[in-house]
Amino acid sequence: MSIMTITGKHKEENWGISSSAYQIEGGWNADGKGPSIWDTFTQTTDSIPDSANGNVACDSYNRLNEDLYMLRALRVKSYRFSLSWSRIFPDGTRKSLNQKGVDYYNRLIDGLIAYNIEPMVTLYHWDLPEALQKVSGWENAAMIDIFNDYCDFCFATFGDRVKFWITINQPQTIAWSGYGLGNMPPNVVDPGYRPYIVAHNLIKAHAKAYHTYDDKYRQVQGGLISIALNADWFEPADVNVVREVVTADRAMQFQLGWFAHPIFKNGDYPDALKWQVGNKSEIQGLPQSRLPSFTEEEKNFIKGTADVFCVNHYTTRVVSYLTAELQPHSYEWDRDLRETDEPDSPTTAIPNQKAVAWGLRRLLNWIKEEYGDPEIYITENGAAVEWDDFERVMFYKAYIDEALKAYDLDGVRLQGYTATAFMDSFEWLHGYKFLFGLHHVDFTNPDRPRTPKYGLSQSQTHPPSTHTHILFSNSIAVYFTPQTVCEQLNK
Ligand code: NOJ
Repeated sequence: MSIMTITGKHKEENWGISSSAYQIEGGWNADGKGPSIWDTFTQTTDSIPDSANGNVACDSYNRLNEDLYMLRALRVKSYRFSLSWSRIFPDGTRKSLNQKGVDYYNRLIDGLIAYNIEPMVTLYHWDLPEALQKVSGWENAAMIDIFNDYCDFCFATFGDRVKFWITINQPQTIAWSGYGLGNMPPNVVDPGYRPYIVAHNLIKAHAKAYHTYDDKYRQVQGGLISIALNADWFEPADVNVVREVVTADRAMQFQLGWFAHPIFKNGDYPDALKWQVGNKSEIQGLPQSRLPSFTEEEKNFIKGTADVFCVNHYTTRVVSYLTAELQPHSYEWDRDLRETDEPDSPTTAIPNQKAVAWGLRRLLNWIKEEYGDPEIYITENGAAVEWDDFERVMFYKAYIDEALKAYDLDGVRLQGYTATAFMDSFEWLHGYKFLFGLHHVDFTNPDRPRTPKYGLSQSQTHPPSTHTHILFSNSIAVYFTPQTVCEQLNK
């Protein structure tokens, strides 16, 4: 395989890098921005290491030109970032419009276009306006229209330049961590009920925003719209035991299928989910399933509401069958399985997130089979590593290699790859302890200086690393020895 054929085949591919508003912007109350649930949570909790928060973070709100310069230097084709809803609508609704917030995003989008970088915009990446939480947030079905109006405004305002929209980032995390475990805001601990209710509302909210784009904007603006779903790969503990294979499939359905099945298949939840939760609910003596159901009209409305498949992927877990306890009622127990680490793979800094590159290839093939061969974008992939950026380079090298095997050898219609993250950022519950950035940020310095890590270094004497080569040339260095990469670059 030569670099020319690979480059040629992949020339339409979208190599990019990602961030999200709360993780990098700071300026938590600047120029009229309203508080989000993450502002409230981080400013009042002690559960995050060093009581960290995103008040300043990377200060990207005030360092836009630096960010643009770095993106340009990276020569990425796309930049995935999110809009802070409460920077645009401080109380979550249109009547509170904050023009300065809109101006910030206009400057960012214009800057990207000027550098030929495609903006990939996430409308909602977890930072719900606090004012909307006061009316029960995603538990409240009224959020479907409220979210739709916010999206409508964003399509109208930015859609002349933004051609890639992602409605919601990782709804499974929102539903489970926010309303089941309750370790993320809004910190509702209710593992058996509310995650299902919240997911139901999130799916409908996504579908409604999709239809708004489709009905009002697509024809003129010509963009595409999807949702970013998180998916681990769940490997059966023993592939020769049917029950274990079925169990692993069930794990996939509970995490990814919960959202992907309604949106990409038939407007309804996967059978595994309906059966498990329905059955458990019955044994638990409940009058009806804890999993809500969609009407036929809703199913038709939800089905097919994504133009491409966007997936965030970080790790692989090994699963085996378990007859789970009936109490407490819990989404986790509803699955009837046990998860463990993949034993033979290297660790990353985050416990339970081992680097299992082969899992990505299996995941991509599973998506291809399960959802009818959709076009797929990997919208997040990356690792937090303890000290040495060399490990991060190896992570990318291995994962991108597996993604390319899925593309080249298995025929998966992979259209894009987004590395996480653009720079070290506020890592949610980990604060600034575990960092995913390709750029180091000095969080002790008020100027928040950014420095490219080893993976981005360009030296005359040493070959460029995997990050640099892949992101710079939109081609594939991973099949090559450092020497051949150098030869190619010197041509
Ligand atoms: C997924 C989230 O979408 C992103 O914001 C975060 O940085 C990564 N996970 C890494 O934890």
